[in-house]
Formats: sequence, structure tokens, C-alpha cells
Amino acid sequence: MSKKAFVIGHPIAHSRSPLIHGTWLKTYGIDGSYEAIDVAPEALPKFFDRLRAGEFVGGNVTIPLKEPVFALCDTIDPLARSIGAANTLVARDGKISGSNTDYLGFLGNLDQNAPGWSDGLGSAIVLGAGGAARAVLVALAARGINTIHVLNRTAEKAIGLSDEIEGPLQGHGLEDFARLAPEAMLLVNTTSIGMHGSAFPNLPLNLLQKSALVTDIVYTPLETPLLAQARALGLATVDGLGMLLHQAVPGFAAWFGVTPEVTPALRAAVERTLGH
Ligand code: ATR
Repeated sequence: MSKKAFVIGHPIAHSRSPLIHGTWLKTYGIDGSYEAIDVAPEALPKFFDRLRAGEFVGGNVTIPLKEPVFALCDTIDPLARSIGAANTLVARDGKISGSNTDYLGFLGNLDQNAPGWSDGLGSAIVLGAGGAARAVLVALAARGINTIHVLNRTAEKAIGLSDEIEGPLQGHGLEDFARLAPEAMLLVNTTSIGMHGSAFPNLPLNLLQKSALVTDIVYTPLETPLLAQARALGLATVDGLGMLLHQAVPGFAAWFGVTPEVTPALRAAVERTLGH
């Protein structure tokens, strides 16, 4: 029987996941489908009934359902719990398990585009303390980075998050960047700054080490002002599109039994939908 997977969210029309999974289904000649389904939060229990009844092998979950699915899943993986969001569901024998692959997406992107980036990495700076920061912080802690500084416009949120998530985390305000930058080997932006070309007003990237890596999880535009500034200073950069592609890998593998590859052709296909 043809296997069916989905991405649910509300709204869902903008999702690139059908393109990513659809490309892989074709590439690997798998008899399956992956469709975007608009599910409002109040319709989630009914959708779970369909899932439990065996209509789908599983699927992805996006805004605003990443947290509401917790209450309906039979099991939630501990990492998803510490991130506070599940983006991948697997249905087996009427039981639904939820996991979070965003942190693997973050790691997979850097591993592919900056191999060895975490070897001996002493100090990292993460900008932002929202939902996206959680997955990045869990990922960095899992890689054994010595010190992870979380910097946020609202310093209290950064401090709260660094207390909550396990690992060598320290919370600060954005104004501490200049003091912490000279030690940092990695800078990650997880805030919404960069979208549509917005920029941090005062972030002296020139204070980072010359061998530092700068990465952004914003991918619209592909080269955010932060990445452009880093590149102009001769720093290594990795854009955020790879995180979107890599977070899709574990779900596809679980549903369809093939671990798919993130290729330049897949990236180009998604890039074409970003208006570049
Ligand atoms: P997400 O789930 O995408 O992380 P979020 O939880 O709303 O979204 O978090 C947005 C992050 O971007 C926060 O860290 C936010 O800082 P505050 O906690 O101070 O609000 C940050 N952010 C958004 N707009 C910003 C701006 N103009 N300047 C600095 N930080 C900003």
C-alpha cells in the first residue's frame, strides 16, 4: 500500500516541506505521497484520530501546532521535551511518537557546510532566546561546546533559558556582545532579525576571531545582512537554508525507510521558491 505522509500547520500554504519530500520520493522511486494539510489547533484531536486509524505513516508539524501535539502523542522524545516543541510524528500500530529534528537540522547543516566546525570549539554566542534558540542550544550542548553564551534583547529571557536548558549556558543582554566576541568561535542568529533584510543596529562582528564561523537560521533572504557583514570581514559563513533541508531527513527515513541525501539539486529546487 502506498505510504502517506503530511505536514500540518495553520496556515500551511507557504511550507516548502512538500517540495523537499516530494523530490526525495521521486529520487528514490518510492511509492508514497507527502501532502500539506491545513489543521487548525481545535481540529488537531480529529486529525490525530485519522493518524491513529492508520491513514498516514507520519508527518511534520509546524506553527502553531508544535507544542499542542505534545498532549496528543503517546510518547515524546526527551530532546523534543527539552526543546518544548515536536516537529515530527511517526505512527506505528496506532501509537504516535513525537520528536524534534530541528536540532539535527542545525547540526546537519553545519556538518555539511563547515566540516569539523565543532572540534575543540571553546565558546559560542547564540543571539535570541525564543523557540528557535531552544533547538540550537540543545544542539550545541549535545556537541560538547565548552561555553554557550545566550544573548537576547530581553536579557532576563536569556538568563531564564540558560537556567532551564541543560548545558554550559550563560545568559546575557545583547550589549555584552563586544565583551564576549573576542573569545567566540561561533556566532548563531536565532532571532527574526535578518528577515526581509533587517539588521542588528550595533553588533561589532569585527571583534570576533578571524577563524570564527557565523551562521543564521533566517533564510529569507539567503544572505542576511549579518552574513553579508561577516563575509565582508572574511569570516566563514553558513546560511540557514540547509537547516530546513536537514531537519527533514530523519522524518523521511522513519516514514519511508530510506535515509535521503541533501544534494545541491534539492537545495537549488527549494532556492528557486525563495524568489532568488
Ligand atoms: P522564534 O520561535 O522564531 O524563536 P520567538 O519565540 O518570538 O520566535 O523569539 C523571537 C526572538 O527574536 C526573541 O529572542 C526576540 O527577542 P525578545 O525576547 O527580546 O523579544 C528576538 N527579536 C525579535 N525582534 C527583535 C528585535 N527587533 N531586536 C532584537 N531581538 C529581536
